[in-house]
Amino acid sequence: MSPSSPTSPAIPEPTPADKFSFGLWTVGYPGRDPFGEPTRPPMDPVHALERLAGLGAYGVNFHDDDLIPFGSSDAEREAIIGRFTKGLAETGMVVTTATTNLFTHPVFKDGAFTANVRDVRRFAIRKVMRNIDLAAELGARVYVAWGGREGAESGASKDVAAALDRYQEAFNLLGEYIVDQGYDLRIAIEPKPNEPRGDILLPTVGHALAFIETLDRPELVGVNPEIGHEEMAGLNAAAGYAQAMWQGKLFHIDLNGQHGPRYDQDLRFGAGNVRGAFWVVDTLLAGGYDGPVHFDFKPPRTEDEEGVWVSARACMTNYLVLREKARAFRADPEVQAALEAARLPELARPTLDAGEGWQQLAEWPLPDVEALAVRGAGLELLDQLALEHLYGVRG
Ligand code: GCO
Ligand code: MN
Ligand code: MN
Repeated sequence: MSPSSPTSPAIPEPTPADKFSFGLWTVGYPGRDPFGEPTRPPMDPVHALERLAGLGAYGVNFHDDDLIPFGSSDAEREAIIGRFTKGLAETGMVVTTATTNLFTHPVFKDGAFTANVRDVRRFAIRKVMRNIDLAAELGARVYVAWGGREGAESGASKDVAAALDRYQEAFNLLGEYIVDQGYDLRIAIEPKPNEPRGDILLPTVGHALAFIETLDRPELVGVNPEIGHEEMAGLNAAAGYAQAMWQGKLFHIDLNGQHGPRYDQDLRFGAGNVRGAFWVVDTLLAGGYDGPVHFDFKPPRTEDEEGVWVSARACMTNYLVLREKARAFRADPEVQAALEAARLPELARPTLDAGEGWQQLAEWPLPDVEALAVRGAGLELLDQLALEHLYGVRG
């Protein structure tokens, strides 16, 4: 029996209760890259719903153009939406989020909300408004905003401050639109450092979190961090998820795999940086993230359609495996003792006592600094215990 066989007792089975979701553009990625033509035919969205539901997934999301080809007539649009809605009802799949394609059509070559050309910006906002209507109609609760073309290849070609003004203007307008329409929808900005633009605006979780606070309705806007995008920037994805949750801003997640700073690999979740994936799952569990567990990956162009389903299933399997391992790690008495020894519980204690201020601190008898300095932190043991759980030799 192959180790990835769904009938192997060691491989957990995904169920809708796990809230796994996929973008139509993920399993539907036909394998086009900058050097080669597609290696797979286009995938029918209803077929994607059926196959994903059969694998135990819970939901889907899509760009407007994934479902409704750009330039479709109103009648074509209605027919497509009708057929898709029927597919949702028949499969029980949920539309978790929606998003707008503001990057494929040549009109967006210099950006959408931050294009230098004003009419392009106005068109982009209209395109998003129309898709927000559809998102609300299909029951999506989060609207993802990934600005892949919002950026530049060279310094003088983009006035970054002016572009941020326009970015802010667009999100303020869309927030107003959502509120005026009475939609139960929040926006999640998805950061990425580069690709397709040489440098993209709001390149990391930190940039996006700071930007959100400048908006008219910051409560309506959060982030959708993608593991690979943070790792492309050399950052620790788990730490980004943790800060987003700490700020109440983790509205959605894009899980996938990446091998360090290079082109955006969008590997299946659990491939690439395995250790990083373990800590992401541990962080999501610790922070109580309870939204859809969304995979944004691209099945490599080497694969035929069966390979697509192998990699889609693997995203879910790897998440379930890592979830079990993270839980076992936290429940392990040796780990708990090591956490104690490494003084993790002490970090949860405020640095000053209640009622203490700088005056009391100034009067505080200094500790034996040299004794504190020589004491080992005990962090290697902790990390080795985590690795042993990950390697499967413990718990
Ligand atoms: C990427 C991005 C995109 C976005 C998606 C949503 O890999 O660069 O993840 O896939 O998530 O387009 O708008
Ligand atoms: Mn990506
Ligand atoms: Mn993504």
